[in-house]
Amino acid sequence: FQVKWDAVAAEKGGYAHFMLKEIHEQPRALRDTMTGRLYPDKGEVRLDDIKITKEELESLKKVFIVACGTAYHAGVVGKYVIEKLARIPVEVDLASEFRYREPMVGKDTLVIIISQSGETADTLAALRESKNLGARVLAITNVVGSSVSREADDVLYTWAGPEIAVASTKAYSTQLVALNLIALHFAKLLGTVSGEEFKEIGLAMKKLPDQAKAILDAEDGIKQMAERYADREHIFYIGRGMDYAVAMEGALKLKEISYIHAEAYAAGELKHGTLALITEGVPVISLVTQEHLYEKTLSNIKEVKARDAAVIALANEGNEEIAKSVDHVIYIPKTHPMLTPVLAVMPLQLFAYYAAVARGCDVDKPRNLAKSVTVE
Ligand code: AGP
Repeated sequence: FQVKWDAVAAEKGGYAHFMLKEIHEQPRALRDTMTGRLYPDKGEVRLDDIKITKEELESLKKVFIVACGTAYHAGVVGKYVIEKLARIPVEVDLASEFRYREPMVGKDTLVIIISQSGETADTLAALRESKNLGARVLAITNVVGSSVSREADDVLYTWAGPEIAVASTKAYSTQLVALNLIALHFAKLLGTVSGEEFKEIGLAMKKLPDQAKAILDAEDGIKQMAERYADREHIFYIGRGMDYAVAMEGALKLKEISYIHAEAYAAGELKHGTLALITEGVPVISLVTQEHLYEKTLSNIKEVKARDAAVIALANEGNEEIAKSVDHVIYIPKTHPMLTPVLAVMPLQLFAYYAAVARGCDVDKPRNLAKSVTVE
């Protein structure tokens, strides 16, 4: 038994769970996903498996991003990035909804399919439906040779390495890098990004692995915070813009491994009803990395503080002011505004992980869930 145990422990790289190992693999996974593809000084992105031409891009009326679960949450971030850089309208949809609503898809549409496993039934069905309707399909996937990779017209692999834990972590952050690479590639082809902006974003992307490492090295603070709130029944995640997109992923992580009820909410929407649920001591994790939305989100934080919520802010390093308005602050290193989701998700992954451990949950194999949902 000891030998078997040692073998399994070795497989986890000495970490207590595959999920923690995979969270800590993110600096390497981010770096590997950029290697050979991004040259900021030359103003180049090289995505050899993406064959779409400038003319085909110019003929596009719309891009759809279609996925499930965490991959869908990456897609929500992808909408902001592709619209900002490539100026093409993007609609994000859940695969299980997309495939049954007679989607307005045709030869003037690009469908970006995101799937870590490349085998999710709903996502694969959405891919096939898109192709039947004449759309071009670009797949972002983590498994070479997966069904999605074989049936798409273009493929961009995330080089995250095998993801064993049911809760997806390194796949999400590398999907975000892949979406930024695609957005930069499209923007270069369409001439919608200046050389200066390209270089600024590209150099910031190259710094992400080291910045991710710095976040993970400081995990003890997040561990203590998670243990403090692990006994709560409800936790809210709020944000605006891309912070709202990351809040969705933070809430899913917490729900699926700690079984705490969590909900992501657009910060500006709270007053339209959900604020009624914010009472004394309810934890509200508030993402405030989008500086152009900071004042607005701060006013929402004050709304929930006025109702005695316990507020944890997730902010950019250097923002000392936020500490006056909340109970705790988790800082992430400063990066380009479009890249903060890659870093902001990591404290939320760790928060969910340590809350689940504190509650004695089976972190790598949560109840009712499978790693790849290959059935409907
Ligand atoms: C994420 O933590 C979940 N395990 C789940 O939502 C997953 O993201 C979803 O099933 C999609 O899987 P895929 O990326 O392999 O298609």
